[in-house]
Amino acid sequence: MSNTAFQDIEDTIESANPAEEVEQQSEANAQTASAPAGEANAEREAEHKMRARPIPRVSIQAFCEDQRTADTFQTASKDRRLAKAQLTVQMGGIDAALTFYQNAPTPNLIVLESMQSPETMLADLERLAEVCDAGTKVVVVGHVNDILLYREMIQKGVSEYIVAPLTPLQVMETISTLYTDPDSDPVGQVIAFVGSKGGVGSSTVCHNCAWAISEAVQINVVIADFDLPFGTAGLDFNQDPVQGINEALTAPERLDEVLLDRLLSKCSERLSLFSAPGTLEQVYDLDVPACDLVLDIVRQNVPIVAIDVPHLWTSWAKQVLLQADEIVITAAPDLANLRNTKNLIELLKSSRKHDHLPRIVLNQVGMPKRPEISPKDFATAIGIETDHVIEFDAELFGTAANNGQMLEEVAEKSKAAEQFRNLAFQLTNKTEHKQETSKNLLAPLLSRFSRKKAGA
Ligand SMILES: Nc1ncnc2c1ncn2[C@@H]1O[C@H](COP(=O)(O)OP(=O)(O)OP(=O)(O)O)[C@@H](O)[C@H]1O
Ligand SMILES: [Mg+2]
Repeated sequence: MSNTAFQDIEDTIESANPAEEVEQQSEANAQTASAPAGEANAEREAEHKMRARPIPRVSIQAFCEDQRTADTFQTASKDRRLAKAQLTVQMGGIDAALTFYQNAPTPNLIVLESMQSPETMLADLERLAEVCDAGTKVVVVGHVNDILLYREMIQKGVSEYIVAPLTPLQVMETISTLYTDPDSDPVGQVIAFVGSKGGVGSSTVCHNCAWAISEAVQINVVIADFDLPFGTAGLDFNQDPVQGINEALTAPERLDEVLLDRLLSKCSERLSLFSAPGTLEQVYDLDVPACDLVLDIVRQNVPIVAIDVPHLWTSWAKQVLLQADEIVITAAPDLANLRNTKNLIELLKSSRKHDHLPRIVLNQVGMPKRPEISPKDFATAIGIETDHVIEFDAELFGTAANNGQMLEEVAEKSKAAEQFRNLAFQLTNKTEHKQETSKNLLAPLLSRFSRKKAGA
């Protein structure tokens, strides 16, 4: 690599870090330089444990007394999970609500904040009951943490009583559990996989990770291949081409459980494909609401949806990323990937404040003769640790791709297969239980057998 190219990378890495961060790095070279970012990430991680689901198209009106509660609701109203709902926030508490609903119909959900004593609160609620339409749910935000008060509220028909101060995620979680039952409603988690550049192995990571979720974590997965003209999911799993995803996206209003079942091709007991046509007879200008609707329906039918998002920047591709529960960015260790990864992270960070940061997979590392940015420098520049560094191995990846097999099937003990398993456990918030040796010996054989049967 020429000196100028090196200089460019150094500049990029330096400009990616505030001065004090760079100082800390030279002090402790052995440590990953993204430690400050690490702390912020830990905060997000803790918040992320609370899993609010997307909230349906309901109308919500909040009447607050404390400005901080109003601000929290305002912040929540901008989150992706509330994108479909209509949330308005005003001050004045229960009194304002009573005046407002004298002449207006009540919405699906009313949130009332009260800083009053339990007795006054209960009396106020009685008055509100007189103006409330049937079917309207009520959530009360109080400032008294009292189990007896809570019970009395529930007895009076209040859906939930929560105690301030609240975080935006608590607000979203409270509302989402009113409309989805976490134990019975199968609202799946959407994981979007995207490459920082074309050809960096994003689809390979998506397919192998989805396979590991289905086999090692043992959760049902659908891979949705959104790369309609060039998608490789069908090839990678050795499946006959089906028009699956194209048919769904062309007429999303027709999609229901039965049609979905017909459009999916089953690869194994727990993994199905929503495969792309991979043909060029038509052009595919996808529609944002259609993508939204299709993903909504798929996620209602399967616990994990892994989306293979092509390397594009269109309205729908951006929307798919912004709406996902988790994002995995695959990058190769060069300057263009570094710039694009940084830009993607910045965009995602600013528009997804209550979500986990994207996971970074640095792929194709150590390609012979290629000048590369080291994983440590890459992590420093982007401010996120690259937990998953996958080596370039033309033979292994080439064999798997040409055979239509997953890495796990070609080389179960390879480091890459282990990385995919780790990523699968990380994304699903599960911990790995070591399998017994006897099971391990049979696992690859059994999984191939079950795949053959499912494909037959
Ligand atoms: N770690 C690796 N070592 C060697 N080859 C790899 C590695 N990862 C992926 N590949 C190969 O790189 C090629 C591109 O991979 P893949 O199609 O997954 O990339 P992509 O980012 O999805 O590309 P596209 O932008 O076309 O969608 C494939 O032939 C794949 O087998
Ligand atoms: Mg791809």
